[in-house]
Amino acid sequence: MAVDLLLGLQWGDEGKGKIVDVLTKNYDIIARFQGGPNAGHTLVFDGNKYVLHTIPSGIFHKTALNVVGNGVVIDPVIFKKELETLDQHNIHYADKLLISRKAHLILPTHRLLDAASETSKGKAKIGSTLKGIGPTYMDKTGRNGMRVGDLEMDDWKEKYRALTEKHIKMLNFFDVQIDYDLKELEAEFSRGIEKLKTLQFIDSEEFLNNAIKEGKSILAEGAQGSLLDIDFGTYPFVTSSNTTAAGACTGLGVAPNRIKEVFGIFKAYTTRVGSGPFPTELFDEVGETMGRIGNEFGATTGRKRRCGWLDLVALKYACQVNGVTQLMMMKGDVLSGFDTLKVCTAYKYKGEIISHLPYNIEPENIEPIYTEIKGWQADLTSMTDKKDMPENLLKYIDFIEKETEIPITVVSVGPDRKQTIHR
Ligand code: GDP
Ligand code: IMO
Ligand code: MG
Repeated sequence: MAVDLLLGLQWGDEGKGKIVDVLTKNYDIIARFQGGPNAGHTLVFDGNKYVLHTIPSGIFHKTALNVVGNGVVIDPVIFKKELETLDQHNIHYADKLLISRKAHLILPTHRLLDAASETSKGKAKIGSTLKGIGPTYMDKTGRNGMRVGDLEMDDWKEKYRALTEKHIKMLNFFDVQIDYDLKELEAEFSRGIEKLKTLQFIDSEEFLNNAIKEGKSILAEGAQGSLLDIDFGTYPFVTSSNTTAAGACTGLGVAPNRIKEVFGIFKAYTTRVGSGPFPTELFDEVGETMGRIGNEFGATTGRKRRCGWLDLVALKYACQVNGVTQLMMMKGDVLSGFDTLKVCTAYKYKGEIISHLPYNIEPENIEPIYTEIKGWQADLTSMTDKKDMPENLLKYIDFIEKETEIPITVVSVGPDRKQTIHR
C-alpha cells in the first residue's frame, strides 16, 4: 500500500492533530516525520482535550501503530510528560508506540543554546518555542548529534558528556546571561531517558518499508506548516526542518513514489505565532475577534497567535511545493457572523501586481489585494452534513477550490472529532 501525507499549509496550528485523529481509523500506522516538542497538536473527543507534542496523533485509537520517525527530534523530558498524561488517562501505548533509532535527542544544553541564541538576537528574535529545536538540528547536520539508537550503546554517557561540554563552551560565546542549574536539568534528563528506554526502538525506515510491502496503510503526520519550512518558509523566521512533503521522505525513509494522497490542512483564515512577515495580518477589531472566537493561543507556549485573512497567494504556493491532492479547511465556524470576508488573491509588490510568493514578503514590500466575499451568519458548530451548509460558506469553499484547483474534501466546524464534515 501507499503512504498518505498530512501537513499544514500555513504557519502551523492549522488543526493537523485533530484531522490525524479523525483519519486514524483508516490507517494501520501513523508516522510523525519531523519537528519535535515545538509542535502542539490538539485533539478533542468524549469531552476531553489532549495536546500532543512529539507523539503521533493516532495514539488514542486501539489498533493503529504510532511511529516517531527519524526526522523527529525528541526531548526525553517532555516526552516523559506526554507519556505520563497518557498513563493518567489509561491510554495504553507500550505495544503501539515505536521510536526510530535514528531520531535525534534534544539535550538540556540544546535548550539553553536556543535561549541564548534568541536572547542575543534581541528585536530580531525568531520567536522560537525555546524547545531546543534549532540547536538540535544544527548538531544533526553538523554531524555531532546524539540519536535514540546511541542509548543502546555502552558509551552513550561519554558521548553525552562530550557534547554537553562543547555546548557549555558555546554558551560562553554568547554575550548574554543564561541562568541554569545543569545538575538539576541532567537529573530530569536522566529520568526522561529511563522512561524513553522502556519503549521499543526500531529501524523505522526498514519497518515502514516492510509494512508497505505487506499492504499496510500509513499516514505520515507533519508538524508546523509549509511557511515555516527551512527551505521554503519565510526564512529566517522558520523552524529548522523541512515541514513540506519532501520532509516526509527524508523523515521516514519512504521514497517519493510511495506517496499517494497529500492532505493539505489550512485554516479558513490565517494565524501565525512568533515573529516574521505575515502579509494579511489584521491589527484591528476584526483580527481580535478572530483570535477570541478561534481561541488563538499556542498549544505549546500559550502565546497569543497573530490573526489575519486567508492568503491564497501563500496557500497556492504551499499547495505547489507539497503537491497537495486534497484540501481540508479548518475552523470555518470561526468566520460565522462576519458580514464580509476578505481573501487575498494577489500582492502589490514594488508597484506591480503579482500572484506568486516573492523572495521578500516583508510588510514594506507587500500590500495584499483582496477579493471580498459575503459572509454567513449561521453557527456551523452543530452542523453534521454538507447539505446544511449556508450558501455563502459554499461560495467561500467554491472560490478557494477554483483558485487552488484542488478539492476541499473536509470542512471542520469545531475542535471536536465529531465536528468534521466530509464532502
Ligand atoms: P495543530 O498544531 O495543527 O495540530 O493545531 P493546534 O492544535 O495547535 O491548533 C488548532 C486549534 O484549533 C486547537 O485548539 C484545536 O482544538 C482547534 N480546532 C481544530 N479544528 C477546529 C475547528 O474546525 N473549529 C474550531 N473552532 N477549532 C478547531
Ligand atoms: P504545530 O505542529 C506554530 C514557530 C515558532 C517560531 C518558529 C521557530 O503545532 O503546528 P522553533 O521552536 O521551531 O525554533 O520556532 O516556528 N513554530 C510553530 N508555530 N505551530 C507549530 O507547530 C510551531 N512550531 C514552531 O513560533 O516562530
Ligand atoms: Mg499546534
